[in-house]
Amino acid sequence: MRIFEQLESEVRGYVRAFPAIFDTAKGSLLFDENGNRYIDFFAGAGTLNYGHNHPAISEALIKYLQRDGIVHGLDKATVAKKAFLQKFHGTILAARKLEYKVQFTGPTGTNAVETALKLARMVKRRSNIIAFTNGYHGLTMGSLAITGNNFYRDEFFGMRSNAVSMPFDGYFGPDVDTITYLRRYLQDASSGVDLPAAVVVETVQGEGGVNVASVKWLQDLAQLCREFDILLVIDDIQVGNGRTGSFFSFERAGIVPDMVTLSKSIGGGMPLAMLLMRPELDQWKPGEHTGTFRGNNLAFVAATEALNFWDDEGLTQAVQHKGALIEQSLTALAARYPQLDARVRGLGMIWGLDIPSRGLAREVSREAFERGLVIELAGAEDNVVKFLPALTIEEELLQEGLAIIDAALAAVVERRGERIRGAA
Ligand SMILES: Cc1ncc(COP(=O)(O)O)c(C=O)c1O
Repeated sequence: MRIFEQLESEVRGYVRAFPAIFDTAKGSLLFDENGNRYIDFFAGAGTLNYGHNHPAISEALIKYLQRDGIVHGLDKATVAKKAFLQKFHGTILAARKLEYKVQFTGPTGTNAVETALKLARMVKRRSNIIAFTNGYHGLTMGSLAITGNNFYRDEFFGMRSNAVSMPFDGYFGPDVDTITYLRRYLQDASSGVDLPAAVVVETVQGEGGVNVASVKWLQDLAQLCREFDILLVIDDIQVGNGRTGSFFSFERAGIVPDMVTLSKSIGGGMPLAMLLMRPELDQWKPGEHTGTFRGNNLAFVAATEALNFWDDEGLTQAVQHKGALIEQSLTALAARYPQLDARVRGLGMIWGLDIPSRGLAREVSREAFERGLVIELAGAEDNVVKFLPALTIEEELLQEGLAIIDAALAAVVERRGERIRGAA
């Protein structure tokens, strides 16, 4: 580990939570340089919905490289891009009767978000954007301005400009309808909140602590946007690509956003990001928004192969089945330790175990890692253990990982026994 400490910036994050030198990976298993085995409940923060090194994806990549397929192409037309667009159109868009134009942005999620903000502002000729408490949209300046968590942001990086934060569903508890609250601000010309170009929202907040917006809330938000001529942008970077069961996370609400950001798992493990927009919003002039790494061709090859998972209902059914197993296991766990006042939240295969006692979730993640499970945290105070396994994880491995969490929590409760009882 010395070379990382010597040379790599202090900004290192995950290496501190998971102090091993990882070497190989297959499906939902990771191996470090000493051959130690870890079950992966983190899936590259939602990038590996189809697991590590899926054989069909690896094979397609190897074949493409072996035939000297173009890797870097800026936004030129390539065979790999054509194949991806055809597959994405047929399997995802047309199958859902969705009409979107596709824009490939720089290869990370935040690039897609920046592009959405810029396009919304350009089309609507308004600068304000409304986002939500606990939202996470990336860390470049525009995305950062609509990201809630202060940890990532300080005033001296730049002000949170042209962005307003409004309460997400449930922010004030179950009895306050936050759409009514938002509506009041928009109706009142003297509220101090400018009519925004767009509302940007995650249907399930991932980094924010696995907060699930209800179907009704999403439908009301879509209706509000229509009424006030505001563009609705769904950030599906973390919970799209099947994480909640359907390909897009907004399908459960039956709404059609004006724009959708996609990244992470769309690339089948390779860096890829894109913005979907209703055709009439595509008001760019040629070359007006560019980037050197828009649409890497290796990512297109991997992404096209990954979309084969959506040829039938199999993956959606698997997500529902395995999601229910996770929910059952966490609900039982929370019930076993009432003194922790732990809450279980989630949908599909993103679940959170919210443990309010300070630092306890972190201890559980550490303890789990020592027992061979990689699992990360979310929430404003890192108070939520976030379950984000690959959608393709074998049921046996899933159960093994859940048993590790069980044992890790028992060990932490045992260690902290007196303090926890005292706090309860
Ligand atoms: C919902 C959401 N939007 C945007 C991003 C930013 O993506 P990236 O880290 O690739 O810039 C993330 C990353 O976690 C995310 O979860």
